[in-house]
Amino acid sequence: MTDQSAFDTDVWTLTRFVMETGRQVKGATGELTQLINAMLTAIKAISSAVRKAGLAHLQGIAGHINVTGDEVKKLDVLSNDLVINMLQASYSTCVLVTEENKEAVITPAEKRGKYIVCFDPLDGSSNIDCLAPIGTIFAIYKRIEESSEGEPTEKDALQPGNQIVCAGYALYGSATVVAMSTGAGLNFFMLDPAIGEFILTDRNVKIKKKGKIYSLNEGYAKYFDSAVTEYIKHKKFPEDGSAPYGARYVGSMVSDVHRTIAYGGIFLYPANEKSPKGKLRLLYECNPIAFLVEQAGGLATTGTQRILDVQPEALHQRVPFVVGSPDDVEEYMAFVKKYKK
Ligand code: F6P
Repeated sequence: MTDQSAFDTDVWTLTRFVMETGRQVKGATGELTQLINAMLTAIKAISSAVRKAGLAHLQGIAGHINVTGDEVKKLDVLSNDLVINMLQASYSTCVLVTEENKEAVITPAEKRGKYIVCFDPLDGSSNIDCLAPIGTIFAIYKRIEESSEGEPTEKDALQPGNQIVCAGYALYGSATVVAMSTGAGLNFFMLDPAIGEFILTDRNVKIKKKGKIYSLNEGYAKYFDSAVTEYIKHKKFPEDGSAPYGARYVGSMVSDVHRTIAYGGIFLYPANEKSPKGKLRLLYECNPIAFLVEQAGGLATTGTQRILDVQPEALHQRVPFVVGSPDDVEEYMAFVKKYKK
């Protein structure tokens, strides 16, 4: 932790941080800064809605199922609308991909800019009603030059994660924290509700080389392949006499990933017999998290391929997802190599 607080006279807010880093980029127009600021305003509004959800009757099922089969809660709908409205009003986006909409959302011509944003407005929605932590995830891309001439389409969003310009997540936990990177390291910013600003609390965050915690939904053990089964067995009964790993699983990816970055270890949502491609979505869940974890010195893989190198083929595509401390993820990949036919 650094010594930044709202009582300092020289406070590093996230807005200031974004402006300062934006100024250092040659030829920068300020459009990305505008976009990030709009995203932060949406996150503040969602954070406030999350904190008031019970009182304002924002919990409960809204009555329909979203494109990926999850029940849509009122808070999801509100969060989605907030992000879309704020981003379009920033005059910096052309295509938006959200977990809540089947099709890509194309920004009206008069409000267009050069950026594409893929986001999950409220991840971990099954946790809303029990007040467990939930989050917002986003990844920002530039529209590819050759296609910039014509009308923007969903194809503009089908870029691999290695093209990300900026990514982040907000975790609405015991406090609201934003983890963000523009490709020059990972930083954490804590929301100070007294001044309504995110304050830099952890600069250039690094994940431990190896952790002591594994995190996955072990309830699906019946459907695991032999690589996952043997890897988890190894974590619980290490053959070399070392201490077994602890297990933690919130079931809200932002929360499980934030703990993994903070304490080290490994988070897995692998493919299984029932979900042959895993559950998590490449564009707005796995790619942004993979980008952030790599920025912290960690790894993110499907088991056989770096997540950021996967070429997306569809907006709501799923991939097996394993992420965390480099030694832990490498050990998992060795199990995949050994046990995959
Ligand atoms: O994709 C949404 C999500 O809620 C993630 O945040 C979380 O990691 C996962 O689903 C939990 O899935 P399951 O209930 O199958 O463990």
